[in-house]
Amino acid sequence: MHCQGTFVDSRLKDPVQFPVAARAGFGNVRHDPDLVTSKLPALQLYQLAIPAPRPSHGSFDPALAEQGKAVFNGAAGCASCHVPPLFTEPGWNMHTPAEIGIDDFQASRSPDRRYRTTPLAGLSARSTGGFYHDGRFANLRAVVEHYNQAFALGLTDGQTLQLVEYLKSL
Ligand code: HEC
Repeated sequence: MHCQGTFVDSRLKDPVQFPVAARAGFGNVRHDPDLVTSKLPALQLYQLAIPAPRPSHGSFDPALAEQGKAVFNGAAGCASCHVPPLFTEPGWNMHTPAEIGIDDFQASRSPDRRYRTTPLAGLSARSTGGFYHDGRFANLRAVVEHYNQAFALGLTDGQTLQLVEYLKSL
């Protein structure tokens, strides 16, 4: 935070994980006058007021999506982290790289060394640039196949297809 504001995060004081931030005092930033803090409530309200985009008509198969919903909430265990209706955990929603079966390259650069459960509403509007924090999965099928392998879910081709259609419907 290089603004004229107040910012406190004691995790950034760790000189082993964040030598530059610790030396620069980013864990406790104070400015007088503070030009930032008074603007944050309105900004947060605006962010929360933006509805997730809805998928366009005909962009997914409703019958398959309905079956995929059952797989998502049941056999595949997706809803244990992507908790409806937010499709993330309404609370502490951070996971170790091992918990989602990927490397720790970016996680180890963040204070908690974790990745955040992405809320899944409006996935249809995010179809370019790939999925996961670094876009490593080109499409939703690749994401589902990753989970199938990493969690040894044993999903059939039919269930994979159903899950993908459900994700497209969110
Ligand atoms: C252990 C918790 C956990 C479970 C179980 C889980 N996810 Fe995730 N999911 C995550 C996390 C954390 C991320 C963010 C990963 C990243 O950004 O690198 C994520 C990301 C995603 C994304 C990418 C969203 C985007 O915009 O990039 C999709 C799609 C997704 N999960 C679908 C699923 C499906 C389908 C299942 C079930 C087969 C599932 N997840 C099970 C935690 C979980």
